[in-house]
Parts: sequence; structure tokens; C-alpha cells
Amino acid sequence: MERSIIVAPSVLSADFSDIRGALSDIRQSGTSWVHLDVMDGMFVPNITFGPKFIKDIRPHSELFFDAHLMVEEPSRYIEQFAKAGCDCITVHAEACKDIGETLKLIKSFGIKSGLTVKPATPIEDVEPFLGDVDLVLIMSVNPGFGGQGLIPETLDKVRWLKKNRGERHYLISIDGGVNLKTIGDVADSGVDVVVAGSAFFNAPDKALFVRRMSAGRGEA
Ligand code: DX5
Ligand code: ZN
Repeated sequence: MERSIIVAPSVLSADFSDIRGALSDIRQSGTSWVHLDVMDGMFVPNITFGPKFIKDIRPHSELFFDAHLMVEEPSRYIEQFAKAGCDCITVHAEACKDIGETLKLIKSFGIKSGLTVKPATPIEDVEPFLGDVDLVLIMSVNPGFGGQGLIPETLDKVRWLKKNRGERHYLISIDGGVNLKTIGDVADSGVDVVVAGSAFFNAPDKALFVRRMSAGRGEA
């Protein structure tokens, strides 16, 4: 059977002056997710947008809002992001004072929870929480900027998550440097979701791009 990987375009690479156009491009490409990269200038050396931006775009899109919080001590902001309309909130293990409590807080708003690790963080560090999350996001670049090259060793974590899933129900997502050149290896590693920023917004035919990425088929 052909693979059906969920493609989550990241608006980080969109033109923020035409965000409604970007959301419409994403919808028309045939995918149902959008990835929202929130950066605080502390956990990562870049700043993007906060809950107000998400609240303002929410009425203009029915896409699944997949929020990736690159924010120090994210528990301070979970309520605001949940009420802004995020469907899933993913937090960095490295940024949380108490990972378990932060995940519980996310779930208390009736939305999906995700946990993510930077390339240097071993997946074993988050093993105790894997039964509590809906999504595990493997960072395949150091977070902060779009357009970087995928670090191939990070795919070992994807393989580990697939092999050790057992009865747990998490989706495996990957973020950073995923494009038509890398999708073959990425798909083979066992991901369920791929985030694509620059590759999506640079694609001349976004529907074709999504179909290829979803099928795990790269450039010939
Ligand atoms: C990086 C962000 C990514 C970024 C990916 O810190 O988390 O979501 O948008 O961008 P590309 O696909 O260009 O590597
Ligand atoms: Zn991201």
C-alpha cells in the first residue's frame, strides 16, 4: 500500500504580510495540517509570533493547527495558546521545568499534546513520557531557522520511536530540512508526519509537492 504521510507546511517560510494567502495555499495543496513555529528569542535565537497571531488566523482556516513552541518554560503560555485555537501543542523537553505537568496542562484543554527534542538530546531522555503524548517531534535541524540541512543521524531517533512504540499511540513527526531530496530516507525511517517550510513555499506546484511528500517519493 502507498504511504500516506501527513504533510505539515510551516508558515515560518511564508510571507507574513499575506498570511491568509499562505493558509489558502496550504489548504489548496491538499493537506490538512499547518505547522506554527513559535519562537521566543530565548530558547532559540529568533522571534516569530505569539498566541494573538494564532487567535487572529484561527477564524480563517479549518486546518489542523500544529503548534511548535520553541519557548523557555512553555507552561507559562499553554493556556493562551490553547485558547487561541491550537489543535496540538508541542513543547521542547529541554525547555520544560516539569515535562509531565506541562503535558498534563496541555491535555487539560482537550487538545493533543506533543513533545520534541533537539538533535543533541537523546530520545531515551523522554522515554518516560511517551505513553502520555499524541505526537513526538524529532528535530532534524537545530531549531531557530528554516532552510537548514537535515542532520541524517536524527533519523535514528525516528527508527527507535517506530520500533519501540508498542501499545503507545504517538505519531512520529520530523522537522527541519525535509524536501524532495531527503523525503525518501525520511519516509523509510518510519515517520507519520513531515514538517516542510522552505521546500513547501518554494515548490512551484504545491499540490504535486504534497502528493510526493505524502507518498514518500522524492526526486527521481
Ligand atoms: C525550525 C522550525 C521548522 C522550520 C523548518 O526551527 O521548527 O519548523 O520551519 O523549515 P525547513 O523545512 O525550511 O527546514
Ligand atoms: Zn517547527
